[in-house]
Amino acid sequence: MSVSVEPVVLRVPSASDRDRVGQIVQATGVFRSSEVAIALEVFDEAVARPGSDYFGLGAYERDRLIAFTLYGHTPGTESTWDLYWIVVDPHGHRRGIGRQLMNATEAAIFENGGGLIVVETSSRPDYGPTRAFYDALGYHRAASIPDYYARGDDLIAFTKRLSSHSKTGDHG
Ligand SMILES: CC(C)(COP(=O)(O)OP(=O)(O)OC[C@H]1O[C@@H](n2cnc3c(N)ncnc32)[C@H](O)[C@@H]1OP(=O)(O)O)[C@@H](O)C(=O)NCCC(=O)NCCS
Repeated sequence: MSVSVEPVVLRVPSASDRDRVGQIVQATGVFRSSEVAIALEVFDEAVARPGSDYFGLGAYERDRLIAFTLYGHTPGTESTWDLYWIVVDPHGHRRGIGRQLMNATEAAIFENGGGLIVVETSSRPDYGPTRAFYDALGYHRAASIPDYYARGDDLIAFTKRLSSHSKTGDHG
C-alpha cells in the first residue's frame, strides 16, 4: 500500500498568514495564551521588517501555512542566532516537516553568518516531543534554569554549532 503525502513548499510568510499562525500555535495546546500573543507579535515584526530583528520561514501545503519558524540574530553577540519559534500544525506531526523546516532555517542562518543557534524550551512533560525533536536534530542541552517559566517548569537551552558541512544536515 502506498500513502500519498502532499509536497511541502518552504517560503517566507506574508501578513495574510497571521490567522493561521495563531491557529497553529493554539492548536498545539502547549503554549500559554500570553505566549500565543508573543508569537503573533514576533510574526508581525518578521513580516513587516524582515531581517530587522526577526526572520520567518513558512511551510505550505496546497498554499496553506502548516508550520513556521521565527528566528533572528541575538543582539550583542558575534554570530549567535536565536530560534524563537518552531511550530508544526498537529495534523502534520511526525511527517518530517519540522526537520525540513529546521534544515532550511539552519541553512539560512548559516548563509547570514550565524555560527551558533540557541533555542529555549520547557522541562514540562508535554514538551517531551519537542526535546526529542531537538535531540534528533543534533542539538545539545547546554544549560537549564530551574523554575524559569513557573515553579517546577525549568528552562532548557539547546544549542547547535553550524559549519559548512552541517548547514543542511542534522549533525551538531
Ligand atoms: C517539535 C515539533 C516542531 C516537531 O515537528 P515534526 O514535524 O512533528 O517533527 P519531525 O516529523 O520532523 O520529526 C523529526 C524527528 O524528531 C523526533 N520527534 C519528533 N516528534 C517526536 C515525538 N512526538 N516523539 C519522539 N520523537 C519525536 C523524531 O526523532 C523525529 O524523527 P522520526 O519521525 O524519523 O523518528 C512539533 O512537535 C511541534 O510543533 N510541537 C509543538 C510546538 C513546540 O513545542 N515548538 C517548540 C517550542 S520551543
